Amino acid sequence: MHNMDERKGFRSNLGFLMAAIGSAVGLGNIWGFPFKMGRGGGFAFLLLYLLLTAVCGFVLLLSELALGRMTSSNGVMAYGAVSRRFRWVGWVTPVTAVLILSFYSALGGYCVKYLVLNVGSLLGAPWGAAGRDGATIFASLIGNQAESVIYGMIFLLLNLLIVMGGVSGGIERFCTVGMPALFVMLVIVIIRSCTLPGAAAGLRFMYAPNFEPLRQNFLDVLKTAGGQVFFSLSLAVGTMVTYGSYTDRRQSLTKNAAVIAACGALVGLLAGMAVLPAAFATGAPMEAMGGPDLLFITLQNVFGKMGPAGPIFGILFYALVTLAAASSSVSLLEVPVAYLTDRSRLLGRGDRRRRYTLWATLVAAVLCAVTCADGLGTNGLWVPFQRFFAGAERLPVFCESWLSFLDMIAEGLLMPLCGLLTCVMVGWDLGPDAIRREVELHGNRFASYGFYRFCVRYVTPLLMLFILWGQLKNFFGF
Ligand code: PFF
Repeated sequence: MHNMDERKGFRSNLGFLMAAIGSAVGLGNIWGFPFKMGRGGGFAFLLLYLLLTAVCGFVLLLSELALGRMTSSNGVMAYGAVSRRFRWVGWVTPVTAVLILSFYSALGGYCVKYLVLNVGSLLGAPWGAAGRDGATIFASLIGNQAESVIYGMIFLLLNLLIVMGGVSGGIERFCTVGMPALFVMLVIVIIRSCTLPGAAAGLRFMYAPNFEPLRQNFLDVLKTAGGQVFFSLSLAVGTMVTYGSYTDRRQSLTKNAAVIAACGALVGLLAGMAVLPAAFATGAPMEAMGGPDLLFITLQNVFGKMGPAGPIFGILFYALVTLAAASSSVSLLEVPVAYLTDRSRLLGRGDRRRRYTLWATLVAAVLCAVTCADGLGTNGLWVPFQRFFAGAERLPVFCESWLSFLDMIAEGLLMPLCGLLTCVMVGWDLGPDAIRREVELHGNRFASYGFYRFCVRYVTPLLMLFILWGQLKNFFGF
C-alpha cells in the first residue's frame, strides 16, 4: 500500500548532484561572476575566490548537507532538532527563501520574455526582437507593468509545476535533464562568442591577472568574492539543508560537497567565456557589462547584430539562462514546501505537497508581482524607506527599487546572518564532531576533518562576519 507518511528523497546520488548543482548555478554565476571577476583582478580574483570557496563555501555547504541528512528534516526543523539555542535560526530560512524567490522570479520572467522575443525573430514575427535595439526592448518591457507581471507569473508557474511533481518526480527529473542540456548549450554559446572578432578583449578582461585591484582595495575585493561564493552556492537559505535531508546515507558527503562547490566555480568561469567576449566584441561600454544590462541589453544587441544565426544563438542563450534560473528557484520554493509537508506528515495528515506548493507560490507571487510592476524602480512605485531618505544626498541602494529592497533584506541581512549563526552553532554548540559522525557513516572517510574543524570554529565565522559587514556596506552605502 502507498504510505502517505513516507518521506521521499532523491532517487539517485547523480540526481541529487544535478539538483544541488542546479540550485548553485543560476543568475548569480551567469551575470554576476564574470564581471566581478574582471573588475576584481581577473586571475588574481579567481585565486581569492577559490580560496574562499574552500574555507567558507565548502565548509558551510558540508555542514548544511550533514545537518539536513542527520535530522532528515527541512531547514526549520533541522536547526530545532540539533540545538535549542539556535532553534529560531531555522525560521529565518523559509522567510529568506521566499523573499529571494520573489525577485528571482521577476528576473526569471524577463529571461522567458527574451526567449520568446528570439523565437519571434527566428520566425520573422512582428512580436520578435528583429530590428530593435536591446535598450529599447528592455525599457519597454520593464515599463509595461502588465507584461512584466505576466512573465513573472509564467516563470513562477513553471516552478509550481516542478515542485508539485515532488522531489524525485519533479525537481530531480527536471534537473537531470536540464543540467546536461544547460552545459551543452553553454559550450555552443562559448564557441560562438569566443570566435567573434574582438572577443579576445573580453577574455583578457576576465582572465588576465591584475593584482592592482587587490593591492588597492583588498577588503572590497574580498567582500565581493565572499558574497559571491556564498550566494552562488545557495548557502544559508535552507536549500542545502533540505536537499541534504533527501540524500542517501551511504553516499560520501565530502565528495558531494566538493563536486557541487567545484561545479559552481567552473560554471562561473565558463559563463564568463560565454558572455564577456561577446559583450566586448560589440564594443559595449563598461557599465553595460554587469547587472541586468549585460543580460537584457548588451547580449540582446550581440544576437541582433549576428545576422540570420542571431535568433538561434539568442534562443539557446536565453533558454540556458531560464534553465539556470529555474533550477535555482525550485530549490528556493522547496524550502517552505519541505517544512509544510514535513509538518503535515508529522501531524498524520499525509504530505499535501500540492496544496502547500500552491500556498508558498502564491505568497511569492504577490511580492514578485510588486517587483515586476516596479520595473527596477522605473515606474514610480512606492518603495519602503524612499520617502524617509528623500532629503539625503544619495539614496541608499536598497530603496532604489523593490528588487533592491527585497535583495537587501535577504542577501544583505538574513543570508549572512544565518550563515554566521549556522557556523557558530555547528562549531560551538552542536560541535564539529557530530558532523564528523554523519560524514563517516557507512565507512566513508573524512580526510579533511582537521581542516574542517578549524575552519568551522574560527575561520569561516570570521569571514562570515566580514561578509555581513560587506553586504551592509553595499546596501547602505556607508
Ligand atoms: N545560487 C543561485 C545563483 O547563483 O543564482 C541563487 C540562489 C539559489 C541563492 C538558491 C540561494 C538559494 F537558496
